[in-house]
Amino acid sequence: MINKSSYHSLEFSKMPMPKSRDIESAVKGDSPLLAASGLAAGYHGHPVVRDLDLVVRAGEVVALLGPNGAGKTTTLLALAGELPPLAGTVTFAGTATRSPLHARARHGLAFVPEERSIFPQLTTAENIRVGRCDPRLVLELFPELVPLMSRKAGLLSGGEQQMLTLGRALARRPALLLADELSLGLAPLIVTRLLEAVRAAADRDGVGVLLVEQHVRRVLPMSDRAYVMRGGRVVLQGLVADVAGRLEEAYLGEELGQRPAQTDATRSMNAGTPESSGTNAGQ
Ligand SMILES: Nc1ncnc2c1ncn2[C@@H]1O[C@H](COP(=O)(O)OP(=O)(O)OP(=O)(O)O)[C@@H](O)[C@H]1O
Ligand SMILES: [Mg+2]
Repeated sequence: MINKSSYHSLEFSKMPMPKSRDIESAVKGDSPLLAASGLAAGYHGHPVVRDLDLVVRAGEVVALLGPNGAGKTTTLLALAGELPPLAGTVTFAGTATRSPLHARARHGLAFVPEERSIFPQLTTAENIRVGRCDPRLVLELFPELVPLMSRKAGLLSGGEQQMLTLGRALARRPALLLADELSLGLAPLIVTRLLEAVRAAADRDGVGVLLVEQHVRRVLPMSDRAYVMRGGRVVLQGLVADVAGRLEEAYLGEELGQRPAQTDATRSMNAGTPESSGTNAGQ
């Protein structure tokens, strides 16, 4: 069993991240920053994700969607180097790799896992310092953190903690950002704030972004393309304009029309929308 608390995100955050020549050429050329081909990933040798083909190019935001248990986190862990693939290949910046996250991080990969990767006992300023990134850049991205620099990060609200996490990740100027449910449990205003920062990083700095999100209606307008997974496989992919109208079909698949109106899948598809969440949690 992979213990989620064993993610190396904190160690990884200490790594300097110079852009390699490979990254520069991938950014300049048309070759994808990240490509998965025939990828299988899972636990104890049993795949829960199968036959996954996926591409992320520099400067594009790609949403990875799907109901609970679809395999989104498993996919992201395999792409980040946290979970060794059971089959297939992951190519990062033009090179097939099986290296762990900390090695990929040195070549410009930033991974924001589902759990908030802050040090709760350290202050906001100390969290930024151990992240080895330019504090000015973090505060430029999220000026909301300026008055909170001397506060222990564990005392920040959920939204403030996530601004700190994302600010640190983006201030290391990654080539590729993989983020798992940035907006989990956060109020709509903060979700928009975080997603806008991600969009700006793609537009302004050419960062390639793969975002796992439950807030479908919030993430799609910020994205260029989307993949929808169900049962460990990609069941729908394409430009946002093409995918948007087919989401229900993709979430429910052949079970469409044979289930009660509110299934786990529809619940998760609607989770966090302004209509369904109505929460201020985490702000
Ligand atoms: N550490 C683990 N050990 C064994 N099985 C796991 C582990 N983590 C996840 N799984 C299983 O793998 C499948 C895919 O899980 P995963 O977490 O990738 O889904 P997800 O799409 O991210 O779901 P959610 O939207 O709920 O976060 C599920 O059936 C889950 O029970
Ligand atoms: Mg998940």
